[in-house]
Amino acid sequence: MTDDALTALGERARDLDAEHAATDRRSAFVLPQGVIYLDGNSLGAMSVAARDAAADAVTRQWGEQLIRAWNDSAWWTAPERVGDRVAELIGAPLGTVVVGDSTTVSLYKAVHAAARLRPNRRVVLTDPDSFPTDVHVTRGVCDQLGLTLELVSPGDAVARLEGSNDVALASYSQVDYRTGELWDLAAITTAAHDAGALACWDLCHSAGVVEVGLTDGGADFAVGCGYKYLSGGPGAPAFLFVAPQHLGDFTNPILGWNGHATPFAMSPDHVPADGITRARVGTPPVLGIAALEGALTAYDGLKVADVRRRSLSLTGFFVECLDALGVDLPVVTPRDDARGSQVSLRHPDAYAVVQALIARGVIGDFREKDIVRLGFAPLYLSHADALAAAVHVRDVVVGREFEQEQFRSRATVT
Ligand SMILES: Cc1ncc(COP(=O)(O)O)c(C=O)c1O
Repeated sequence: MTDDALTALGERARDLDAEHAATDRRSAFVLPQGVIYLDGNSLGAMSVAARDAAADAVTRQWGEQLIRAWNDSAWWTAPERVGDRVAELIGAPLGTVVVGDSTTVSLYKAVHAAARLRPNRRVVLTDPDSFPTDVHVTRGVCDQLGLTLELVSPGDAVARLEGSNDVALASYSQVDYRTGELWDLAAITTAAHDAGALACWDLCHSAGVVEVGLTDGGADFAVGCGYKYLSGGPGAPAFLFVAPQHLGDFTNPILGWNGHATPFAMSPDHVPADGITRARVGTPPVLGIAALEGALTAYDGLKVADVRRRSLSLTGFFVECLDALGVDLPVVTPRDDARGSQVSLRHPDAYAVVQALIARGVIGDFREKDIVRLGFAPLYLSHADALAAAVHVRDVVVGREFEQEQFRSRATVT
């Protein structure tokens, strides 16, 4: 590539950053100098507001208010209050989302409850290539309820559902965690409904970056992470959505005191609370919810549609830069708009490539078995970052820097 061509890419990056200036929230985040952080799809960066909210929850609320904070700082109602904020980001009505627990536990509650709403159906569909916890949870529910788990890729789900009468639930991820493919939530949900089944969606890789459209798509249940693009912090609570028409019949498979209609009556009989509160289980993770609540303020004044436009522009421009720089690796992520907010590349030495990039300050993920996964959290990344990252990828891959011995030893968390 000539210096002129690189200069032209730099100018284009500047133009695109100017075009998307209204969705630039970089100053709201704390990012170390010299790092291009392409891991917002694993652990979103810390925002000033998340840090301050967590500090306030610890120092003032816990430290000074002590147990009074359950009322005085509204800890008790935080799962529903923060759930409402998440609802706005995923196109769900207020009162249908609660935060707390992990994605795994939330998915267990959703899949179990959904299957019980279709008692005469014996089959649950899920994607064999889902994030493993989704397959494990779904298999576990099927074993417990005597149902059959059928592994059907989302691309084949509509055909499997058409004309069928045995499926209770189709449970899929909206965005594939490895490839970044964006599946058609509305089409699969409609096919499920036409077949008398329900649909549950894992939004871990779409919440905050894709116009999820739960209501428009007719989804019955959904779950998702708080610690990825939503930047709620390590181990941030997940969210669970139950469509309004199912709230009255939703049976929580984990009957805890937080989901009780009158938890402080201390009654041994379980009477489920009204609304989404019945999806709660035990004492909520207050400090994690506080950080997540702070983090979500990064979206104040933004439309998800504009964030999505920025995300598509960033990932599209990154691929354009790779092409222009002569990085000849298979791009696994769709080049059309049917993608989430990541770009995944295939390389036989993907682990070493990711380590070599990290040594240069470009932090991404390796995913088994040969995927270099680079996530573009749109709120704090720029087109200039995308170009700089592409130049680093070229130097590591084309310059064969990844072959150095120090990039080969594997850490516990990959
Ligand atoms: C698509 C998807 N679902 C579920 C999970 C697991 O979530 P948790 O560890 O919060 O239960 C992940 C984690 O990365 C994920 O990517």
